[in-house]
Amino acid sequence: MGTTHKVIFGNALNMKELQRNSVQLVVTSPPYFNAPFDSPDFFKTYRDFLALIKSVAKELKRVVAQGRICCFVVDDMLVDGEKFPVVADITKIMMQAGFRYRDRIVWIKPKGYVRISRRSGVLLQHPYPMYFYPDNMQESILIFQKGRFDYSYLKKLPPEVLEASKIDVKEFNVSGTPFTVWDNIAGEERNLAPDAWRITNVLPMKGRLEEGVAAFPDEIARRLIKLFTFVGEDVLDPFAGSGSTLKVAKELRRNSFGYEIDLELKPVIAEKLGYHQSTLSGDKIEFVERNDAGHFRTNLQKIVKQKESVTAS
Ligand SMILES: C[S@@+](CC[C@H](N)C(=O)[O-])C[C@H]1O[C@@H](n2cnc3c(N)ncnc32)[C@H](O)[C@@H]1O
Repeated sequence: MGTTHKVIFGNALNMKELQRNSVQLVVTSPPYFNAPFDSPDFFKTYRDFLALIKSVAKELKRVVAQGRICCFVVDDMLVDGEKFPVVADITKIMMQAGFRYRDRIVWIKPKGYVRISRRSGVLLQHPYPMYFYPDNMQESILIFQKGRFDYSYLKKLPPEVLEASKIDVKEFNVSGTPFTVWDNIAGEERNLAPDAWRITNVLPMKGRLEEGVAAFPDEIARRLIKLFTFVGEDVLDPFAGSGSTLKVAKELRRNSFGYEIDLELKPVIAEKLGYHQSTLSGDKIEFVERNDAGHFRTNLQKIVKQKESVTAS
């Protein structure tokens, strides 16, 4: 059976297109506050950023089905030398909105794939106490749950859906995790489901489809969708960006919804979802443009370049 995918260009603080309790999983990464490389000066203040997250959390509480999961890929942000505690604040906001805090996975980026900050070099110049500023090698995948899941749900699923949704546990407990070596040293595989995932990030290369979007790797969405939804269920990304979550949902035979405020990302999402390709599987892709969407990416990239040239001179 074909899947359906709907991208709504508009502000995620209003998800009126979605019914109460209708979505089985949320996989998202909100704008990285005022990240110097992707969204400089996007928010006037950190309070404005938190206010957006609060409104979206309230909407998520309404649209997510009972017992189901919301995943946020987030990191604390360093802006103009000041560190903002995004991970802690989003955790608190989601809990205040009525979600249970279920887990935090640490996403570790491989050596050589991270931007080394000038901050960390300070210790080389001044090898004394108080000059330590670590380089950032990780992000958090925060996992929240709306109440408790009723596991009798599995008994009501058609056997072919259950079979198609079955998880290959080997994918999650050995390869790609930083604990493999430790487990081998211990002579047994003790870490069945480690809470650290080593996944290569999307490199900020010039000209790539996701340029200036701060996309997360498909592999993050792939793992979360496999771990928390059954085939044919609905996945939502309220901050769709380039559409990674929706693309992976389609590949894994789940339906998807995405909200994205920037109309300039429409061609990017269309390409990622294969909008112009005919499919034999009968998948449907729909775009809706609301009047609370806008145009941001070109302007944001201009500000990034201006800031880069000021720093370089
Ligand atoms: C970090 S990016 C998401 C990247 C995405 N995970 C991917 O893999 O491409 C955050 C996105 O949220 C969008 N955004 C910011 N504020 C929004 C809002 N109020 N409503 C909907 N989208 C918003 C930004 O335009 C940006 O594309």
